[in-house]
Amino acid sequence: MRSFVLRGGRLTEGQKRAMDEFWPRFGIDEDESLLVFKTLFGNDAPVIMEIGFGNGDAIWQMAQARPAENYVGVEVHRPGVGHLLLKMKQHGITNIRIANDDAVEFLRKRVPEESLAGVRIYFPDPWPKRRHQKRRLIQSSLIELLASRMCPGAQLHLATDWEPYAEHMLQVMSLSDSFVNLSPSGDFCNRPQWRPQTKYERRGERLGHQVRDLLFKRIPLPHGFNAALTFS
Ligand SMILES: C[S@@+](CC[C@H](N)C(=O)[O-])C[C@H]1O[C@@H](n2cnc3c(N)ncnc32)[C@H](O)[C@@H]1O
Repeated sequence: MRSFVLRGGRLTEGQKRAMDEFWPRFGIDEDESLLVFKTLFGNDAPVIMEIGFGNGDAIWQMAQARPAENYVGVEVHRPGVGHLLLKMKQHGITNIRIANDDAVEFLRKRVPEESLAGVRIYFPDPWPKRRHQKRRLIQSSLIELLASRMCPGAQLHLATDWEPYAEHMLQVMSLSDSFVNLSPSGDFCNRPQWRPQTKYERRGERLGHQVRDLLFKRIPLPHGFNAALTFS
């Protein structure tokens, strides 16, 4: 069950030009092989992944603010990828690599175990209707897949403006043995100042929605746990 429905949507002329010019340098071509992040970025810096970056406004601002970190953005919507490449060009940003792919497949096939220093998922589609809720990205299978790909101590950061989804996230996370909640009150956190506002967040705020941030730390998996057997 996919967490998205591929929308059409044309690339603007600027996005198209950015794609032609910059995809060969910053895009991750489809392939079946495991990535080697050191080769992909040309350095050993920690790698943070943003899943479902939309138009990319959060990831380019975070990457610009932290040039000593590497960022991988994963988004299925192609115009969003074009928009991000355009922003990277405008701001001279070189520490982002982009996959135009389903993040679940990408994590399974391309991302090595215990390789990510952080994962960020901001305002994933809430799928508010009950019959659609199985499409929600945040569910136990994804969380355990993420746990296998994140380094011990890595942070998982979720945000949503849809209160029932915030409660759902909290419940799914509480079922996992792989993460501890960093909230002092055991539920939500204040928005960290380093998280830029996103397009969907601004839309939610215009509608009067409360924004929730959730921050978790990945704890070491039990000794002898073989993530490859579980998720291959
Ligand atoms: C509601 S939008 C939020 C976009 C952005 N994070 C923001 O806050 O403005 C959710 C995004 O997640 C993307 N998405 C949903 N499921 C995905 C998946 N499995 N892999 C990659 N992207 C996905 C959608 O294409 C969409 O752009």
